[in-house]
Amino acid sequence: MAIVTAADEKRVIDTAPKQLFIGGQWRESSSGATLDIEDPSTEDSLCSVADGTPADAVAALDAACDAAEDWAATPPRDRSEILRRSFELMNERADDLALLMTLEMGKPLSESRAEIVYAAEFIRWFSEQAVRIDGRFSMNPNGSGRLLTMKQPIGPCLLITPWNFPTAMGTRKIGPAVAAGCTMVVKPAQQTPLSMFALAQIMTEAGLPGGVLNVITSRKAGAVTEPLFDDPRLRKMSFTGSTPIGKKLMEQASKRLIKCSMELGGNAPFLVFDDADLDAAVEQAVIAKMRNIGESCVAANRFHVHESVADEFAARLTAKLTEMPVGRGTDDGVQVGPLIDGSQRDKVAGLVEDAVGKGAKVMTGGDRVGDKGYFYAPTVLSDISPDAELLREEIFGPVAPVATFADEADAIAAANSTEFGLVAYVFTRDIKRAFRVTEALDVGMLGLNRGLVSNAAAPFGGVKESGFGREGGPEGIEEYLSTKYVALDL
Ligand code: SIN
Repeated sequence: MAIVTAADEKRVIDTAPKQLFIGGQWRESSSGATLDIEDPSTEDSLCSVADGTPADAVAALDAACDAAEDWAATPPRDRSEILRRSFELMNERADDLALLMTLEMGKPLSESRAEIVYAAEFIRWFSEQAVRIDGRFSMNPNGSGRLLTMKQPIGPCLLITPWNFPTAMGTRKIGPAVAAGCTMVVKPAQQTPLSMFALAQIMTEAGLPGGVLNVITSRKAGAVTEPLFDDPRLRKMSFTGSTPIGKKLMEQASKRLIKCSMELGGNAPFLVFDDADLDAAVEQAVIAKMRNIGESCVAANRFHVHESVADEFAARLTAKLTEMPVGRGTDDGVQVGPLIDGSQRDKVAGLVEDAVGKGAKVMTGGDRVGDKGYFYAPTVLSDISPDAELLREEIFGPVAPVATFADEADAIAAANSTEFGLVAYVFTRDIKRAFRVTEALDVGMLGLNRGLVSNAAAPFGGVKESGFGREGGPEGIEEYLSTKYVALDL
């Protein structure tokens, strides 16, 4: 992307949709209220968007329900073509979409660009899956009659998406829902609604009928979604966000047994064994830790390194993180943008203070950067005490604690000693150890000699308190389908 000018920034903000999108129409909040969107790198207001009310959310569900029958009956090939066209438009407009994302979320432009490509891949993947929804036909084992199963769209969905990947976390829910023939209400995070509105605009331009995808934004997420959980027409909820909020939503969904997919918090261990290729481990550690400024549920949260190579690993990681330029995501060469807001930056600072208070050594960073914007320096900590909070808490920031282990059993025990189970990263050149450790770790995903697992063609999701359900891959569309079994007496 060419150097971004103030005029480019003004153009993408001025032309971005800012109203609720309900039944194919853009409209203001029924209360007339608006919500300010902040640039986390300057703390200045970028613009304001409609601040939806519970009545708006119900109107969005009404629109989704009105559109449901026709959309479910729309030929899969037509659904697929709309997704395919959306994928193409996203790529054609990737520069503007990336700039919009950087402005509202803060990540460097190169990362926003990568997210748009990643997000569009979900749309392409599910355009290909839309025409591959099938059922089964078999003989009853006792020979009398036949068993038929068919897959049908589950029905109207509520999709709640986070601020850290404002577009990709949307497309990996919207893509399969659209492909399956479901209609939906999407509620993006209040910090980053512009990317979701832009996506809705693109999908509409690609031919998505009004009412299939409805978007509501609000500063009061809980109050706005609450009436939807009481509505018998809502059939499915998919949430990406923190484990505490996920648990609250599960409670609400349990009232009417709404089917849930939950992509929740992580505490990813990154294990480096003494036989690992250290160059590869360090290179991949930078990706696993620093992608998205560490604000990812699959970010490496803690490094457990064999005691014989820990000092060297920490020194090399320190050298890499020290040279990463911190700054506004639109500035040339910046690799580390601001955190999303003041409370996230304070949380990261608090975790570092706790670790240092318990004896950790700061190898680099360890402090806020600048007076304006929510910047925090890339940080490496060594000599981590086992009771440091950041070994248990999801950091969601650019902080890499390096702890040590003595043997394989020790490493596995440390990795599994968390209530989370989203992803782990393992670095070893011993194939037998690789499989032993892979099988022993209690996670939904594992990067073996790789620091990145995210892929539209693969099932993303966790175990334990990291949630359940899978997004992406052939599994992703199953979350939006229900199976009907027909007993045939022939
Ligand atoms: C997340 O942080 O929630 C998801 C990241 C990814 O898909 O890579």
